[in-house]
Amino acid sequence: LEMGSGGAFPRCEPRRPVGARGRRGWHGGGCRESSWFPNFWHSLLSNSKLRALAAALSPGFLRFGGTETDFLIFDPNKDSTSEEKILWEFQAQQEACGSRPAFAAVEKMLLAQWPCQEKLILAEQNRKKHKNTTITKNTLDILYSFANCSGFHLIFGLNALLRKGGLQWDSSNAQALLDYCASQRYNISWELGNEPNSFRKKSGIHIDGFQLGQDFIHLRQLLNNYALYQHAKLYGPDVGQPRKHTRRLLRSFLKSGGKVIDSVTWHHYYVNGQSATRGDFLSPEVLDSFATAIYEVLEIVGQTVPEKKVWLGETSSACGGGAPRLSNTYVAGFMWLDKLGLSARQGIDVVMRQVFFGAGTYHLVDANFEPLPDYWLSLLYKKLVGTKVLQVSLAGANKTKLRVYLHCTSSLNPKYREGDVTLFALNLYNVTQHLELPDYLSSKHVDQYLLLPHGKENILSRSIELNGRVLRMLDDETLPELVEKPLGPGRLLDLPPFSYGFYVIKNAKAIACI
Ligand SMILES: *[C@@H]1O[C@H](CO)[C@@H](O)[C@H](O)[C@H]1NC(C)=O
Ligand SMILES: *[C@@H]1O[C@H](CO)[C@@H](O)[C@H](O)[C@H]1NC(C)=O
Ligand SMILES: *[C@@H]1O[C@H](CO)[C@@H](O)[C@H](O)[C@H]1NC(C)=O
Ligand SMILES: *[C@@H]1O[C@H](CO)[C@@H](O)[C@H](O)[C@H]1NC(C)=O
Repeated sequence: LEMGSGGAFPRCEPRRPVGARGRRGWHGGGCRESSWFPNFWHSLLSNSKLRALAAALSPGFLRFGGTETDFLIFDPNKDSTSEEKILWEFQAQQEACGSRPAFAAVEKMLLAQWPCQEKLILAEQNRKKHKNTTITKNTLDILYSFANCSGFHLIFGLNALLRKGGLQWDSSNAQALLDYCASQRYNISWELGNEPNSFRKKSGIHIDGFQLGQDFIHLRQLLNNYALYQHAKLYGPDVGQPRKHTRRLLRSFLKSGGKVIDSVTWHHYYVNGQSATRGDFLSPEVLDSFATAIYEVLEIVGQTVPEKKVWLGETSSACGGGAPRLSNTYVAGFMWLDKLGLSARQGIDVVMRQVFFGAGTYHLVDANFEPLPDYWLSLLYKKLVGTKVLQVSLAGANKTKLRVYLHCTSSLNPKYREGDVTLFALNLYNVTQHLELPDYLSSKHVDQYLLLPHGKENILSRSIELNGRVLRMLDDETLPELVEKPLGPGRLLDLPPFSYGFYVIKNAKAIACI
């Protein structure tokens, strides 16, 4: 999960023409600029519905990172805004992770401000140069408490653009932040810089791979000075897609500083949100382009630091905030589920989704705190799919259009047993596909979890059905039960045109899963 850092999204490369959004009237006129970040939406993190939705996806990592973190200065002396203060003082009276009766007045005010705030965020990202913003102790407290109380481990992206004479990283602000976090005994993992391949474009500062590697070594040494952070994890370099210049940067970074990082992180978006079409989301070629990108990254890591894990440190369907009316609908699930399947199959251990909550359209939970199709898809994935990947093959259909993945079933799911396996499948054909399990599984009972769009907007719907029942929260703190549909032995698994679903094969006794 990602929280972005105030919601400004990663730019697309190459950058779309400046002002493209301006013509459509995206500007911040009339909004109170001073409050947009970070006080405003971090306050939203106290929302009980948002917390319940996050908690249901735990365990996991919550990454606080993105373009804005390289423009973020920790100010240990700054006073919080009045809104934040009210909220925090109110919370301080509650138990650390206890129930939080909605603080209706503050919440209402914040929500009323959202449309305005979102405009500011969008306007900000169109600026050639980003502006520095400050983060206060209170904001850190709220962020940590949100992560910790929701069962997530926080990954915090430190500002890499603070430089001594334009060269070495100036770690003094990071040190102040570490001092504070250590004093609160916050268990956090760290990153340094976001998409260094476009630092020059964002800030005019160029940092090459060698120097960035040295900066990571410096940060590692700094962390080693704290008893609490001696063994804290460090991830990086959070580069963008493996294009030519970025591949060169990644390689030289790994040679220079690769030994001090715990996982190599990179970012991936299939398409540009400005130009993406419905067809892109259903295209086997577009989905397969991700496999090529993984291959290129793994090759560089294999040649430089072969023992390191590779993570997708930030990812979504479309860059630039997502594709309007696509990234927040059922159709986005093809890219998301396929990405989860392909990543695991190719050996990527962790995938961090841009974005859990924030501006744009690729969020899992929208500005009204309504979970979108990708939220429910993520939830089912977490409940049903384990971390062990099995080999699976398909006969009688084109495997780029009927895409299947097989894993051990999640061992955390009390409904299932060791040895059970979960098949998940995506049908990109415009006709129903009937999957038949091989003979040795034909006597097994199968639990179907078929996801279909709800409503007449069809695959462009923002609401989703599980086995024919619409998925929605029962109240602000209660998620619906995810009810399976049992299929008797020997039944075909029917996948309607343009749909996806999960199938738990019970009592499969897969040796690899025991
Ligand atoms: C949250 O904090 C408590 C108390 O410090 C700790 O026991 C727990 O492991 C933390 N949870 C996470 C997810 O970090
Ligand atoms: C910090 O969190 C990580 C990940 O949850 C955990 O493995 C580690 O033991 C924790 N460290 C401390 C000092 O609690
Ligand atoms: C499978 O479908 C893809 C995408 O439509 C197409 O490019 C490819 O030629 C097909 N393969 C076969 C064997 O038909
Ligand atoms: C399905 O797609 C094929 C081309 O791949 C097209 O010829 C056919 O008319 C489509 N069928 C439906 C029911 O849309």
